[in-house]
Amino acid sequence: MLRFAERTKGAQRSAIRELLKYTEQPDVISFAGGLPDPATFPVEFLAKVAEEEILHNSLKSLQYTTTEGKRPLRQALAQWLSEEGITLTMEEIVITNGSQQGLDLLGRAFLDRGDAVFVSLPTYLGALQAFRAYQPKLVGIPLEEDGMDLSFLRRAIRQARRDGHEPKLIYVVPDFQNPSGITWSLEKRRELLRIAEEENLFIVEDIPYRWLRYKGEPIPTVASLDERHRVIVLLTFSKILAAGLRVGALTGPKEVVDMVVTLKQGADLCGPSLTQRLVVRFLTDYDVRGHIARLCQHYKVKMEAMLAALERYMPEEAEWTRPAGGLFVWARFPSALDTTKMLERALAHKVAYVPGQPFFADGSGQNTMRLSFALASLEEIEEGIKRLGQVVKEELATVALPQRE
Ligand SMILES: Cc1ncc(COP(=O)(O)O)c(C=O)c1O
Repeated sequence: MLRFAERTKGAQRSAIRELLKYTEQPDVISFAGGLPDPATFPVEFLAKVAEEEILHNSLKSLQYTTTEGKRPLRQALAQWLSEEGITLTMEEIVITNGSQQGLDLLGRAFLDRGDAVFVSLPTYLGALQAFRAYQPKLVGIPLEEDGMDLSFLRRAIRQARRDGHEPKLIYVVPDFQNPSGITWSLEKRRELLRIAEEENLFIVEDIPYRWLRYKGEPIPTVASLDERHRVIVLLTFSKILAAGLRVGALTGPKEVVDMVVTLKQGADLCGPSLTQRLVVRFLTDYDVRGHIARLCQHYKVKMEAMLAALERYMPEEAEWTRPAGGLFVWARFPSALDTTKMLERALAHKVAYVPGQPFFADGSGQNTMRLSFALASLEEIEEGIKRLGQVVKEELATVALPQRE
């Protein structure tokens, strides 16, 4: 009889990763994965600098590095973030194995069993998975078109305290959120900081999609508005360079970064030297701005194609977000429609999506779905949404709809 630790009881495999098995058949048009488009990876550049680093810089690229991560990388990142209005010293930044490791280490650093973490409904599934390992009380806060419902958040924080759950973290993805595509307004970003200050909580601001903006002006990060050092930022090169490099970073007050570094030592000693060196070279020797501009153009066309196809093929009962960036569109249907059940019908029609429910900390959202436009071609987007429209129409015909929602 295996005797795993108590904390593994709530552990669940990502519903999405499980699902990808079924969607990988070649004739299925899949909007399910959350992966970036490999066509955007600067393959030749990476191959060239990898060869140079291995042959001529092996001490730095093949040896262990420091737990904090390579200094030139932290310097380059501090410079990059200063353009975002985030001013950092070298002690306020640690390189992580993707931002996912940052989420796990924050869980380890902050969460005792039963501590409250506030997340939006829906939120990034990987954050739920990372935090769940530490057995917190995950409190879902409704997500509106311009960010979390903040009066709900205030009430929820006080309620958690009354119920004996110590409020610790508020986790947010304010730019083109995964899964909803929603971006927070400036007012809500400021208000969030006020709440964190009044209630003595840390905000975790996860910004993997920040640079994938296809229209409109950037809104300042919560961290750049923060005067009281309440914000921990997670960033990553997964969506703007290459996900397999596994290079991300966590920034925040020195005390937090110190603790994360200590815990990271126990987790992996250090991150991979080689890929950190590749990212240093990307930031210093490559036309990063030009690269990001090309990425944005690449995804913008796909996003517009998906939004136009949804307009054409979805029945009027469907609603969906119209993001200004990122990789995802989020759709909602009448509450009687269960997107998990509908998936079988969708796969029979050779189209796939991710049912929304796993993104909800409270188990709701059974009538929602996430659609990624990143991997499909324009033709596949058109054909896939056409099939999906048909699937939804057929499914709606089988469920009892209330008069008008
Ligand atoms: C909101 C969000 N945070 C974090 C991650 C993890 O990314 P990585 O670990 O590749 O940096 C993802 C990946 O999809 C994401 O969407």
